[in-house]
Amino acid sequence: MKKLSIVVLISGRGSNLKAIIDVANPLVNISAVISNRPEAAGLIYADEAGISTEVLDHKDFATRLEFDSALQECVDKYDPQLVVLAGFMRILSQGFVRHYKGRLINIHPSLLPKFKGLDTHKRAIEAGEKEHGLSVHFVTEELDAGEVILQARVPILADDTEESLAARVLQQEHKIYPEAIQLFAESGFRPDRFLKPVRSDN
Ligand code: GAR
Repeated sequence: MKKLSIVVLISGRGSNLKAIIDVANPLVNISAVISNRPEAAGLIYADEAGISTEVLDHKDFATRLEFDSALQECVDKYDPQLVVLAGFMRILSQGFVRHYKGRLINIHPSLLPKFKGLDTHKRAIEAGEKEHGLSVHFVTEELDAGEVILQARVPILADDTEESLAARVLQQEHKIYPEAIQLFAESGFRPDRFLKPVRSDN
């Protein structure tokens, strides 16, 4: 079977990227890792694995549209079938999102549609939620609103802090993101086949 070619976009720590690399899925080839921050720690995981890296510093561009257009050109050089946002902390413009329609996915640390945006762990605790989790979803023009592909749930414990809850969720992220990419590969790269009823893990 032909391997699924993916490009992973990161901004920082890169622990989800590391999880995707470590799973070493035989159906998946990571063609490149691109960061919008030169100091992103996650770039080291790509280097260590011999994966091409690119840095496109958003601060070098006058506008979001100019950055997004350069980013699109950079991604397209690798001709990926799937673009994977793994802690990529920039909002992407409409044109970019449309260009990758059906092949642009993100991992978000909440049970969407709850807690879109930032500070999700803190907000979940403050809201008195009993459970929290993560969602892998398609990226659409509306922030964190695209169709959910997979979710995993974790409990919120009475003595949880933002940090302890984030760590519990992150552990699940590292399992679920590689799994979602594998689903895409197994679907023959067809988003319509990829989308099946959302499964929630415990
Ligand atoms: C992850 O928890 C991911 O869910 C979150 O950033 C972290 C990146 O960690 N993403 C978002 O909040 C996107 N809105 P990592 O760099 O170690 O993978």
